[in-house]
Amino acid sequence: MNAAPRPLLLIGAGKMGGAMLTGWLDRNMAADGVIIVEPNPATRADWQGRAGVSVYHSADEIADTVIPGTVILAVKPQMMDDALAPLQRFVGPETAFLSIAAGKTIAYFEQHLAADAAIIRAMPNTPSAVGRGITAYCTNAAVSAAQASAGAALLAAVGEVVVVDSEALIDAVTAVSGSGPAYVFYLIETLADAGASAGLPAELAMQLAHATVCGSGELARLSDQPASQLRINVTSPGGTTQAALEVLMDPDTGLQPLMRRAVAAAEQRARELAG
Ligand SMILES: NC(=O)c1ccc[n+]([C@@H]2O[C@H](COP(=O)([O-])OP(=O)(O)OC[C@H]3O[C@@H](n4cnc5c(N)ncnc54)[C@H](OP(=O)(O)O)[C@@H]3O)[C@@H](O)[C@H]2O)c1
Repeated sequence: MNAAPRPLLLIGAGKMGGAMLTGWLDRNMAADGVIIVEPNPATRADWQGRAGVSVYHSADEIADTVIPGTVILAVKPQMMDDALAPLQRFVGPETAFLSIAAGKTIAYFEQHLAADAAIIRAMPNTPSAVGRGITAYCTNAAVSAAQASAGAALLAAVGEVVVVDSEALIDAVTAVSGSGPAYVFYLIETLADAGASAGLPAELAMQLAHATVCGSGELARLSDQPASQLRINVTSPGGTTQAALEVLMDPDTGLQPLMRRAVAAAEQRARELAG
């Protein structure tokens, strides 16, 4: 007879943890296999109403007999020290710890949990809140293949999942997809601003910019053509788009050198924050 699957322990059911939890339950994960630790009374109350899910104020309240399969660490990085203190007792061969906290390294978790704890470090992004995120993850040597694929399956509840071989790449991932949504939102703002400068009413300029960026993203997602080809498809020789792209694609002052600088600055900052 198969043993019952190990429960999932979610530490922090805020924006990100809550989005993941919604994704898991929407995908028919058994609610009675989910244990939440959440000190925020309002957030706790939201989940206490969900049949089957166990909700605790602190991990100290969880019965000694509980051995989670995966512990998802979804608290703010500055709360992590406190969150980990009562979790050391869960370290063991059957339990993997999956962190989505920005800047918290595998070495940090090994130090706070145990040197041989199984650690999965993941970097999701905010579109995860609508199930359209992308998460990159890496693992330490203590994570088994089965634990890694179980972790990846959990992350897949909120979007695409990719694995990176080296933890050193997580800073670059953070700079591209972690922070990337802000670059895209800023693109909406600047396109709207440029439209207003060209004489459009501000509200109309924002509506046009917003729909253009969202629609283009959707087209890129659904099309089997690469972004470069989709761009070429819009660009008639000698037309309006080409005139704009000559500015945007200027090798010295265009978007490419600017984006490289922006991503390099984010990567550098991610490295500093990780210590
Ligand atoms: N949001 C994003 O776009 C994003 C993207 C990538 C990665 N992340 C990572 O995801 C993590 C969570 O971010 P978030 O935006 O979801 O934060 P959040 O909304 O503040 O959620 C964190 C939750 O954890 C609770 N909490 C605090 N201390 C705890 C403890 N000791 N044990 C259990 N729960 C505790 C918080 O309660 P209180 O409200 O009472 O503090 C809050 O409800 C962060 O580490 C962040 O770096 C977030």
